[in-house]
Amino acid sequence: MVTTSRRPSPALVARAEQLAEWLRARVVPREGSLTQVCAAHGVGGVVVVGPERVTYHEPARDLHYFYHPGMAKVRLHSHRRGDPDPMIQAMDAQPGDEVLDCTLGRASDALLVSWVVGETGRVVGLEASAVLAALVRDGIARYADPSAALTAALRRIRCQWADYREYLPECPDGAFDVVYFDPLFDEPLETSPAMAPLRLLAERAPLTAETVAEAARVARRRVVIKQRRGSGLWHRIPVDRVVHGRSARVEYGVRLARPHTGAAGPSRECC
Ligand SMILES: C[S@@+](CC[C@H](N)C(=O)[O-])C[C@H]1O[C@@H](n2cnc3c(N)ncnc32)[C@H](O)[C@@H]1O
Repeated sequence: MVTTSRRPSPALVARAEQLAEWLRARVVPREGSLTQVCAAHGVGGVVVVGPERVTYHEPARDLHYFYHPGMAKVRLHSHRRGDPDPMIQAMDAQPGDEVLDCTLGRASDALLVSWVVGETGRVVGLEASAVLAALVRDGIARYADPSAALTAALRRIRCQWADYREYLPECPDGAFDVVYFDPLFDEPLETSPAMAPLRLLAERAPLTAETVAEAARVARRRVVIKQRRGSGLWHRIPVDRVVHGRSARVEYGVRLARPHTGAAGPSRECC
């Protein structure tokens, strides 16, 4: 369900209606507090379109969530300084590449990828959770950073509200250079208040070997999977190579887009 902030302008109501249409949700007038709005319509949560941003509220769980690039800015700045980023190394991302991010979330990873592939590249991001898709889509369209180049990289990301389990089988062979997954870890690495709502709203079904095989068909060059270091995922989903940073708690499994034998086990690289 979608509503607006109090005393909305006609333009804000029109934006709420557009968002509701995209989400196949209904728009309700803002009458009273958000607790009252949710109670009046018998729902647990509501997306609120305001002049500054779109937020999601669930009064009973005291949950508020809105888009912010967060750590993406820090990563982008260190990448611009020339520090290697293990995700970019694992993808071997180059200007002009076409990348499918199957787990868009807050689009932090997608923002760095979009920066690297540049104007001649393409980044498509899939997000299965309706609320997260709505908020990240709005953030991609509206968040304005003091850095015009960062804002431009954000705007180039194409967000789709879609489940990769349905999207990938529809893709032709070799539709993207790289297909990327960042599934939720069982134990969160970030315990920050900013990350907690995403975990509550996220789609949680585990990544399967079948999905990765489908992704390898869709990838021209490689599939990259982010995981907690030492999680053991590579026993269930074999990869050709594992890339990690010097001190990072995460690692990236690389499945090259060719028939996988899995015989030798992955080689390891530190960047
Ligand atoms: C750990 S978060 C990804 C964070 C993201 N890499 C970023 O930089 O912000 C995982 C996201 O993938 C989404 N997700 C999980 N399964 C999915 C699926 N089958 N299709 C599309 N999105 C999915 C979750 O809803 C969640 O938002």
